[in-house]
Amino acid sequence: MIRVNENYAKLASSYLFSTIAKKVAEFSGKNPDASIIRLGIGDVTLPLAGACLTAFHEGVDEMGREETFRGYGPEQGYDFLREAIAQNDFAVRGAEIPAGDIFVSDGAKCDTGNFQELFAPDVKIAVPDPVYPVYVDTNVMAGRTGRFNQDRYEGLVYLDSTEENGFVPRPPEEKVDLIYLCFPNNPTGAAATREQLTEWVDYARSSKALILFDAAYEAFIRDPELPHSIYEIPGSKEVAVEFRSFSKTAGFTGVRCAFAVIPRQCVIYDALGKAVPLQGLWNRRHTTKFNGVSYPVQKAAAAVYSPEGKKQIREIIDYYLGNAKIIREKLAALGFSCAGGENSPYIWVKTGGDSWEFFDALLEKAQVVTTPGSGFGHCGNGYIRISAFNNREKVVEAMERIAKVKL
Ligand SMILES: Cc1ncc(COP(=O)(O)O)c(C=O)c1O
Repeated sequence: MIRVNENYAKLASSYLFSTIAKKVAEFSGKNPDASIIRLGIGDVTLPLAGACLTAFHEGVDEMGREETFRGYGPEQGYDFLREAIAQNDFAVRGAEIPAGDIFVSDGAKCDTGNFQELFAPDVKIAVPDPVYPVYVDTNVMAGRTGRFNQDRYEGLVYLDSTEENGFVPRPPEEKVDLIYLCFPNNPTGAAATREQLTEWVDYARSSKALILFDAAYEAFIRDPELPHSIYEIPGSKEVAVEFRSFSKTAGFTGVRCAFAVIPRQCVIYDALGKAVPLQGLWNRRHTTKFNGVSYPVQKAAAAVYSPEGKKQIREIIDYYLGNAKIIREKLAALGFSCAGGENSPYIWVKTGGDSWEFFDALLEKAQVVTTPGSGFGHCGNGYIRISAFNNREKVVEAMERIAKVKL
């Protein structure tokens, strides 16, 4: 008799975005003429930058000629992309990351989800609340939690991200082994300062813990004082892995390309307390279960770092940040307290009351789709997340509609 992985039964019932999709479908069914504006799911709307598109085409053409055709590539990614990342994402910011520490993949979702495989079943895990659900659900599937009970899984340490701490939690009093951090944050839009990250690195070093740092929204940072990478913090290479993605940086959500950085100095420990280099473990996992990102996609990703690619991508992100500014300012003028939206495409709006009720009211009265904060965790209740990924006219219209209705 083949038995099921019982941990799947612990997963809290419905996935946030499928519930939203169902509600929106029901509403459109009843109101077929309503023009719905979607500021919910964090998917990009602008097409690929010209430089990426050209490189993508070139890559495809190369695959069509015998002399330039490529079969399996290196699982860790082509050197041309890893070198470009090392230079442009890290060296220029004073973080020395050799290309060999970079593992190209098809998504930060897969990387952040898969990484937990390297750790013992009983490691103590801290996750922010609210949180990008992948960190939690993948650990639930792996059996690292107890039951879901009153909005939370037993066995996890939740780091409350609240108005009081500016949505950047501090290290806990208790000792944890594995810490998920995400800055700029999804869903709150908060960005961590150098001092705040230093406190986390110090904590990890003193407790032999590991930080999994998700920087999928790094490209939205505009404040020159803010660190873009955890490796800008001294001492972090021994205790932190960083995840990046071309999804939001360069509109690759449908193209698929990302990377993880596992510094060669980074270690975890065996049962006897002996240090085990993490990079070798990830390399083993990655090369066993993954066969590399396609050549044309990696060519397109490398074009992000070309002079025209950099310029075009900055313009695209500035456009989304322009949307975020409009959303933030309009909502603030209506009296809502908002976080995020300055170094992030997400605006975290304090609504008070029940997030789903506010979501329903916005859908019914203004035909605007948002994301209820409670879908990201207990501390998200009383908030909604608004995404700046949309075209300017729709964002402006959504804000005009919201201003007109009574909420
Ligand atoms: C925090 C965070 N990490 C990772 C991802 C997924 O990135 P990718 O498209 O590279 O899988 C997302 C996507 O929304 C995200 O919000």
